[in-house]
Amino acid sequence: MGVVVLFVLTFQIFLGTVIRGDQSGTTHVTIDDNLGALASTYAPKIWLAKDEDYNPSSVGFHLENVKVYDGATSYSSTPSTLSTCSEDCYMSSNQTLDHASATLPFFSGEHVGSTQQPPVYAVVKRINESTTDILYWMFYPYNRGKNVCIGLHIFGVCIGGYSTFGNHVGDWEYATMRLENGQPNKLFVSSHDFGGIYDWDEESETYKKGEDAIQTEGTHPILYSAWGSHGLWSTPGSHVYKDMPVIIDDLRD
Ligand SMILES: *[C@@H]1O[C@H](CO)[C@@H](O)[C@H](O)[C@H]1NC(C)=O
Ligand SMILES: *[C@@H]1O[C@H](CO)[C@@H](O)[C@H](O)[C@H]1NC(C)=O
Repeated sequence: MGVVVLFVLTFQIFLGTVIRGDQSGTTHVTIDDNLGALASTYAPKIWLAKDEDYNPSSVGFHLENVKVYDGATSYSSTPSTLSTCSEDCYMSSNQTLDHASATLPFFSGEHVGSTQQPPVYAVVKRINESTTDILYWMFYPYNRGKNVCIGLHIFGVCIGGYSTFGNHVGDWEYATMRLENGQPNKLFVSSHDFGGIYDWDEESETYKKGEDAIQTEGTHPILYSAWGSHGLWSTPGSHVYKDMPVIIDDLRD
């Protein structure tokens, strides 16, 4: 019984205003203006790391720089022609990479500033008469891998040096807002393998998971995008990404 509506919202970085709009080169289907307003109301504001080299972009921007390989054919695509792609197709950058860690200019994504903000893609899903989920998707052309301590990690210090694992092209991050009877109830935040469910706390006007709290600005949750890898966190700073014999740091500023 779910109703799914896809919207394009502007990426909420640095600026507070939410504009749902016609970003050129992006697909969006607006079925119901009320749902669009709802998606805009709870859209997260996301801070990029201060020295972020790999900004978000629209899907259209990314597609301009890659080719679709489908069986024996390869072709350029736009968001609207992509839906004709078979299940086996894949994309490859239109320029070759010299080695696995090499980068191309488009990996830096789109300019983010007061006049240009990459979109957030929102999917509104009505679960039942009282529950509505809004999925917010952000796209990044490039994910810089984790800095992994390949030496010894002693008292929080890596001795022996770091190496980077997990660079990849094309990176989606998402957060899901659950509304109960039109009011915020929970926020699910993705952080690659991890994720966390935060419960709305009316009194503090934050989303809480134990001691951890996601602040809000009006109706908008404030999230922090990890430097390079873009996993979402509730606070700025450095986070241990995964509890493994090697320590992977997810860095933000
Ligand atoms: C790759 O795509 C970009 C963006 O459309 C274009 O500027 C560039 O010339 C293309 N490069 C090649 C080698 O086709
Ligand atoms: C609606 O769905 C939510 C999530 O699955 C569930 O917790 C709730 O009980 C459902 N409500 C009704 C009225 O079915």
